[in-house]
Amino acid sequence: MSDLLVQLESAFGGHSPLSYIHSPEEERILRALTALSAKLGAAAPLCWSCLGGLGNYADTQEPVAALRKVIQEDLRGFIVFLDLAPFMQAPEVVRALREAYLDGQDKADRHIILLCAELNLPEALKKEIELVEVMPPAEDEIGVLVQKLNQEAKQDLIKEEAVREITLALKGLTENEVWHILRRATASGKTSQEELLDEIFAEKKSVVKKSGFLEFSPPRWSIDELGGLDNLKDWLRRREKIFSREALAAGVPIPKGLLMMGVSGCGKSLAVKTISSLWNIPLFRLDMNLVFSGMYGSPEEAFHRALKTIEAVAPAVLWIDEIENALGLDESGRNLASHIFSSFLTWMQEKPPLIFIAATANKIQALPAEIIRKGRFDEVFFCDLPTAIEREEIFRIHLQRNRADLEEFDFKMLQVMTEGWNGAEIEQAVISARTDAFYEERPFTQRDLNRVIGKIVPLSDTMEQQIKSIRSWAFSRATPASKFGKAASKRL
Ligand SMILES: Nc1ncnc2c1ncn2[C@@H]1O[C@H](COP(=O)(O)OP(=O)(O)O)[C@@H](O)[C@H]1O
Ligand SMILES: [Mg+2]
Repeated sequence: MSDLLVQLESAFGGHSPLSYIHSPEEERILRALTALSAKLGAAAPLCWSCLGGLGNYADTQEPVAALRKVIQEDLRGFIVFLDLAPFMQAPEVVRALREAYLDGQDKADRHIILLCAELNLPEALKKEIELVEVMPPAEDEIGVLVQKLNQEAKQDLIKEEAVREITLALKGLTENEVWHILRRATASGKTSQEELLDEIFAEKKSVVKKSGFLEFSPPRWSIDELGGLDNLKDWLRRREKIFSREALAAGVPIPKGLLMMGVSGCGKSLAVKTISSLWNIPLFRLDMNLVFSGMYGSPEEAFHRALKTIEAVAPAVLWIDEIENALGLDESGRNLASHIFSSFLTWMQEKPPLIFIAATANKIQALPAEIIRKGRFDEVFFCDLPTAIEREEIFRIHLQRNRADLEEFDFKMLQVMTEGWNGAEIEQAVISARTDAFYEERPFTQRDLNRVIGKIVPLSDTMEQQIKSIRSWAFSRATPASKFGKAASKRL
């Protein structure tokens, strides 16, 4: 028995006069409901759509007429309403649903199901309607699709070894999407594991793009381009294989997430961007400004949809940058969007295991204690200003990226000249020095750097007080991201 059938059986095994299945997969769910009816010895599901009406009953295109028909004819079994979500604003539809609910209360073998891609529960019926969230195809169902493809082709288009790996990557997509990818890839001769994985990544990217507020961040950054922050890098490297099939098969627990907080410009966002290439899973940034913009419905609804979308493309990393703004927290940690905040916390607690959350925060005092509490994130790292040795490392990374000859630079001197600087300022200095040299058509040297370093006033000069207070706040609450850790926080 497929996982879906088990799930539906447990949802409809008890008495549920009115249920709402939130899923875009009409055909797949109708198929499973048909199988479930057969198993229970009931008639096949009866469907209503706004064009066809209710089964063969005449004049039932109107939702109210159809719901009344169910009562009048005392229909039993699964009665599935396919297009009802948009009609739910109408008071007469809400009333007819309530009538059907009351009428069905003593009829254990009548299940009225609203099957909709969007979630639109009328406030007045929230207590009566049972919500059923259906997971996308599990590995067994995906396996069936691969078999079907091989059977149609009368050969093993997708080889046994590749099947095991791609099944995991295909998880989270709908049955139609899985089928579409498999057909498209194999029709163009892409049947190796690598080619299939590329196709799957591309499909996930496009699924997410349609949602509007999740942005795909390409796996362009290597962890070697992040200077210092050794404890953090070590934590990430140790979990490099966490999303691999072996680790999942062995039941190694998947970490929930990581929160990086601290002084701005020290590489927190960059660290998140390196996760995707290190762990080989897609990274999506949630644009909370768009969630709050109202362009996608109420912020609560948009946020819920964003979380559902990310679940649909798992395994994935969900990146929430500057979480203090994202969660609508003001300077004092007072919560301006408490619905969103509490639903986020609950979601984090129960979130599907194949999502890893990477969050960053600059205004860390604004973070409420609940979010830092143990059990939410696996680790909370504090990113401080880089130490002298770390600054040298960051200089080397950016000089190399800007194709400078490293032999030409005096790193001891650079260390001394940039006391209190952050990584972003080091990068800025290297870029302006290079630009100056390029303009004067010379190779770029230490002298160019000396000149620009003299002109840059680091943030830590003007924000000494704030940085001190960030440090003392983080001291007891977070693990230092740098291996020089707490010793370094005595500076300034
Ligand atoms: N530790 C670092 N190693 C290398 N580059 C860094 C580092 N910290 C900052 N940078 C440079 O500064 C830029 C901005 O840093 P960012 O990650 O956005 O800082 P934060 O998110 O902590 O404010 C990065 O894209 C990178 O080029
Ligand atoms: Mg940042």
